[in-house]
Amino acid sequence: MPCPPPSDELVFFVNGRKVIERNVDPEGTLLTFLRKNLRLTGTKYACGGGGCGACTVMVSKNDPVSKKIRHFSVTACLVPICSLYGTAVTTVEGIGSIKTRIHPVQERIAKCHGTQCGFCTPGMVMSMYTLLRNHPQPSEEQLMEALGGNLCRCSGYRPILESGRTFCMDSDGCQQKRTGQCCLDQEESASSTPGRRNEISTKLFSKEEFQPLDPTQELIFPPELLRMTENPEKRTLSFYGERVTWISPGTLKDLLQLKVKHPEAPLILGNTSLGPTVKSQGQFHPILLSPARIPELSVVTKTSEGLTIGAGCSLAQMKDILAERISELPEEKTQTYQALLKQLQSLAGQQIRNMASLGGHIVSRHCYSDLNPVLAVGNAALNLVSAEGTRQIPLNEHFLAGLESTDLKPEEILESVYIPHSRKGEFVSAFRQAQCQQNALPHVNASMRVLFKEGTDSVEDLSIAYGGVGTTTVCAQKSCQQLLGRRWNELMLDEACRLLLDEVSLPGSALGGRVEFKRTLVVSFLFKFYLEVLQELKKLAKLLSVPDSRRYPDISDRFLSAIKDFSVTTPRGVQTYQSVDSCQPLRDPVGHPIMHLSGLKHATGEAMFCDDIPVVDRELFMVLVTSSRAHAKIISIELSEALELPGVVDVITAEDIPGTNGAEDDRFLAVDEVLCVGQIICAVVAETDIQAKRATEKVKITYEDLEPVIFTIQDAIKHNSFLCPEKKLEKGNVEEAFEKVDQTVEGEVHVGGQEHFYMETQRVLVIPKTEDKELDIFVSTQDPTHVQKTVSATLNIPINRITCHVKRVGGGFGGKVGRPAALGAIAAVGAVKTGHPIRLVLDREDDMLITGGRHPLFGKYKVGFMNNGRIKALDVECYINGGCTLDDSEMVTEFLILKLENAYKIRNLRFRGRACRTNLPSNTAFRGFGFPQGTLVTESCITAVAARCGLLPEKIREKNMYKTVDKTIYKQAFSPEPLIRCWNECLDKSSFHSRRTQVDEFNKKNYWKKKGIAVVPMKFSVGFAATSYHQAAALVHIYTDGSVLVTHGGNELGQGIHTKMLQVASRELKIPMSYMHICETSTAAVPNTIATAASIGADVNGRAVQNACQILLKRLEPIIKKNPEGTWEDWIEAAFEQRISLSATGYFRGYKAFMDWDKGEGDPFPYYVYGAACSEVEIDCLTGAHKKIRTDIVMDACCSLNPAIDIGQIEGSFIQGMGLYTTEELKYSPEGILYSRSPNEYKIPTITDVPEEFNVSLLPSSQTPLTIYSSKGLGESGMFLGSSVFFAIADAVASVRRERDIAEDFTVQSPATPEWVRMACADQFTEMIPRDDPKTFKPWSIPIA
Ligand SMILES: Cc1cc2nc3c(=O)[nH]c(=O)nc-3n(C[C@H](O)[C@H](O)[C@H](O)COP(=O)(O)OP(=O)(O)OC[C@H]3O[C@@H](n4cnc5c(N)ncnc54)[C@H](O)[C@@H]3O)c2cc1C
Ligand code: FES
Ligand code: FES
Repeated sequence: MPCPPPSDELVFFVNGRKVIERNVDPEGTLLTFLRKNLRLTGTKYACGGGGCGACTVMVSKNDPVSKKIRHFSVTACLVPICSLYGTAVTTVEGIGSIKTRIHPVQERIAKCHGTQCGFCTPGMVMSMYTLLRNHPQPSEEQLMEALGGNLCRCSGYRPILESGRTFCMDSDGCQQKRTGQCCLDQEESASSTPGRRNEISTKLFSKEEFQPLDPTQELIFPPELLRMTENPEKRTLSFYGERVTWISPGTLKDLLQLKVKHPEAPLILGNTSLGPTVKSQGQFHPILLSPARIPELSVVTKTSEGLTIGAGCSLAQMKDILAERISELPEEKTQTYQALLKQLQSLAGQQIRNMASLGGHIVSRHCYSDLNPVLAVGNAALNLVSAEGTRQIPLNEHFLAGLESTDLKPEEILESVYIPHSRKGEFVSAFRQAQCQQNALPHVNASMRVLFKEGTDSVEDLSIAYGGVGTTTVCAQKSCQQLLGRRWNELMLDEACRLLLDEVSLPGSALGGRVEFKRTLVVSFLFKFYLEVLQELKKLAKLLSVPDSRRYPDISDRFLSAIKDFSVTTPRGVQTYQSVDSCQPLRDPVGHPIMHLSGLKHATGEAMFCDDIPVVDRELFMVLVTSSRAHAKIISIELSEALELPGVVDVITAEDIPGTNGAEDDRFLAVDEVLCVGQIICAVVAETDIQAKRATEKVKITYEDLEPVIFTIQDAIKHNSFLCPEKKLEKGNVEEAFEKVDQTVEGEVHVGGQEHFYMETQRVLVIPKTEDKELDIFVSTQDPTHVQKTVSATLNIPINRITCHVKRVGGGFGGKVGRPAALGAIAAVGAVKTGHPIRLVLDREDDMLITGGRHPLFGKYKVGFMNNGRIKALDVECYINGGCTLDDSEMVTEFLILKLENAYKIRNLRFRGRACRTNLPSNTAFRGFGFPQGTLVTESCITAVAARCGLLPEKIREKNMYKTVDKTIYKQAFSPEPLIRCWNECLDKSSFHSRRTQVDEFNKKNYWKKKGIAVVPMKFSVGFAATSYHQAAALVHIYTDGSVLVTHGGNELGQGIHTKMLQVASRELKIPMSYMHICETSTAAVPNTIATAASIGADVNGRAVQNACQILLKRLEPIIKKNPEGTWEDWIEAAFEQRISLSATGYFRGYKAFMDWDKGEGDPFPYYVYGAACSEVEIDCLTGAHKKIRTDIVMDACCSLNPAIDIGQIEGSFIQGMGLYTTEELKYSPEGILYSRSPNEYKIPTITDVPEEFNVSLLPSSQTPLTIYSSKGLGESGMFLGSSVFFAIADAVASVRRERDIAEDFTVQSPATPEWVRMACADQFTEMIPRDDPKTFKPWSIPIA
């Protein structure tokens, strides 16, 4: 290979230190550079595509035009390293450290309990920090905007926001501002002052502790850089890599000449379009031209006719420019600007808006572009420049279609964009509908402009453009032409709808699917525009006292609701819990809202996750090769091409496994046959991750397709394809009862699957030792013992040679129980074969493709009931889509059936469940383990009964709820008293009944917007239905300085188990938590552990820690007795002198769970968690969007070990559940390929999805005798409460259908996406769209539930 010429020096600053890179690779990103070159691992990788914010850092730049220093947040994973020339980067490590001084942002996010697993925290911190650099006292709106691009999968966002709000200028620190009940007042009367018993508290943190924000303490912009940018280098800088050259000219002239020389070379600005395509399509561009140093591209010019914005301006800058111009000009001139601003407010997250340029946005011509439709209808023009001169072209349908004659020539660049002012009598609007309100690509967007002949309602000019309905923005030219001269009335509207549906036609097989929904949006948006304009015309006519103003059709007030958009509001709420007993000693931390032990380290980026472990000597990287076929015979695997690539060391196949290769029907590495797309076939081992990744593309696998190929539950039923026998529970006589009831209803429920989307993808580092076949495995898992055992079996070596270490896990949610074992085993085979340490880090796409998630469910029910709503019989049949191997599917089926009755006492029940075998990746454990899916069927029966009886669902729920001590369907006795209390408190705290009346009133007054309200009860069984899982061990050492090391079998997944364990140890040993430490979970310290799952981690491990501490204290008792005035240190010293062992193992032999499936009875669970949630939403019937107005949760946590952690678990699981039931949608191709493999395609809730008012309260004075200090495990239960949002949406939809006289009992489908809601709210627009015969086309995606 020829040697590239020497590169220029790349000079930039990181955290105040100068970085000079002489051999930079232009393909590298800032994220890799920070993590690998500078070892700044606080900045995390979670998606690599700009969609999650985990890698957020701040970039500061001296703006060449404004001469001001700009600080802006960026996602480091998309920032090309070469683009940083002359900038200063600040990472989470640069703003504070626990070793020196933490920054107020870091302190507050930790102390407000805004960190759980902590993986998202550095990104959150940096988004907030950047905001404060620009606005030391931001508004709440700015705070929401700043955090909109950061995802958190654990916390439910509320505490993060709370921490940010402490900096806001309009914050009074009160968490309950709008309810009129100030929490600060409550605190006073409710604090845990000695002498008061078990008061109610609403204070989870103490604001008084916070250090003030002092902007003068921040890192200054490096003076050297200031000088550098004030006298900018005009020379062209070049950086040569192995495959790519980065050229950064210093003048426009040079750029244009370079464009002549390299016409095919793209201009690289934000890299938010190029970067993701390079990654997803494996393309690369040998030459990249960077115009970052050319001031001409950032110039903004205002004239009396319009606004010209430099193509190099970022979308964030454009937003500010437009806002400023709107404030300066009369409204009639700013119609286009307002429409652009509206789209910019919901386009991506803040970081992407900071990076993406206007030029890049326009030239990319993405079909989903939010700005191009507005620019097109607004008659924007593109100012092009080349070495030959300048010219202007219109940004119109021809440009958007990419016609050669109307496009940029290869040697031209876009210099700026001219956007004319709107004129008198002209109206411009923009619309978009995405899966969720913010940070989501639109399904469809549109912009519309109409100009009327002066003083009339006759259309002089009309422009309509849509995004998301074709390969690029589609302009409805023909329709608009035909409508010229028409009056603005319903006749015109009807005609326009017909024309548009004809012109903007989407085939049934269209890319992205959702075809009927998109067609409906095409006309629904038009209807909104029609009403908006009509309203404006009427206002104008009234204003001008036009005599014939009555000629405009009247719009009833009921219809005006169509126009209003949902606004983004900052959530608020109160968290209520019972403070500790006043008799509890002050030093005893149990029951107090103690901050997560790692909270501050999460916030400073010093908390180490698996992939933050520094590179180990001789380490190699592994990347997996997966099947591209759903069911096929492997004919051959050709490795030679891959092995020849530079850096490639080996390819590991099934033949390399010395021991067992998984189970016969669940191979770790495929042998002969593949059962799904994404099944692991082999693994490339190379010197770097990039080399390994490139080599995977060169592994050639030939397949022979096999039959049958089954993806859907329906097909599995047809083929009798099941993973395990049917599970069944029965009580009473269902058939007989059906004979005697007043009515029966039958229905179907479809619940989609769910991706765990833990922020930290699966990762493992295997280090082979030199002696005795020993291996050290650092792994992100919920079950290190399972990894240890699996590796032992795979390598055929004894378990005692393998030590698994888990420091902390960046979110698990069930997804890191089973899968890490297989990955650990494959990596271990690689390590043993090559003799090198192996690091395996799944990228987000592979993680989502390979690992499976929550089981999709199809449920059929028949329910028999009396006219008063009393349910007499219920027969439910559930099928879950288990994927291609058994995994946990049998257990999930069992749990589903056991838990299906939820809170209801129904005398005659029959529950049946089957796990379907399909050719999809195996589904596995997921928070709630079948309960969230199954119970949706039960609750749907309730709403169906309510609809039939003409009663409200809450009445049916109440009527059929367990009320007295009773037995479940499997004959386990329990008392529903806390359930009833939760239910009543929830109704009371949420003012349910009065709000139900208000909702009805609202619905009467509004036709196009409807509100819905729902309250759901919950009885959730905790634990595993197998005795062997109810045990735990702990090891507690006291060292001679008095410090204590606690180790136990639980893993820190963000749920705060280590914090709780130290609270337990502190109470038992009667010493402060500051004496104690937990280092890691290690199979060498505590063997034979059970998975940290099923909500019982703290229960069982807490008892083991308690046991160990009690043993130690017993040993110390004689010494303490002898010297009662002594200190802890004195006693420990004396104990050592007296040869008393200061180390003890604690053990807890827990609950004896059993279940006899033949008899249908047992005692499978130690206890239940009860709860209730009430949610209110508002839906937009025209788009299917919804807004969460309020949620109130009451949960029975008994005596919480740590209310801050428990409330965090409830909120986090609720929001995760809300995602399951509303936005998280997995899409599969007809070939069984998962499409949704990134945060752009799979939408977990963002900060703007949190209910506007979100209250959580822990039920006071509740007790359970079985658990540690009478606490309860709350890890999973809140998940199901997310369904209250689903049922509130369903309630709103039902009210639409009632009003429109459409059948109220429709097929329930979860998630209740905008698509589902829109299509369920059938109206004239859904009626008018063309429908395709499903037999005539191949759909883009298939439903698998
Ligand atoms: C996570 C994420 C979320 C997003 N969400 C949305 C969304 O909700 N709505 C939406 O509309 N978009 C969204 N986008 C897309 C985003 O708006 C575009 O990617 C962005 O505007 C492109 O700008 P850029 O500067 O990054 O372009 P780059 O990636 O740097 O370049 C893109 C292309 O433009 C060309 N180019 C750039 N500047 C010029 C110029 N001056 N002259 C000639 N050619 C030029 C380049 O040659 C290149 O081919 C999202 C992107 C990401 C990564
Ligand atoms: S890792 Fe960079 S945005 Fe997700
Ligand atoms: S704390 Fe946010 S992802 Fe875990």
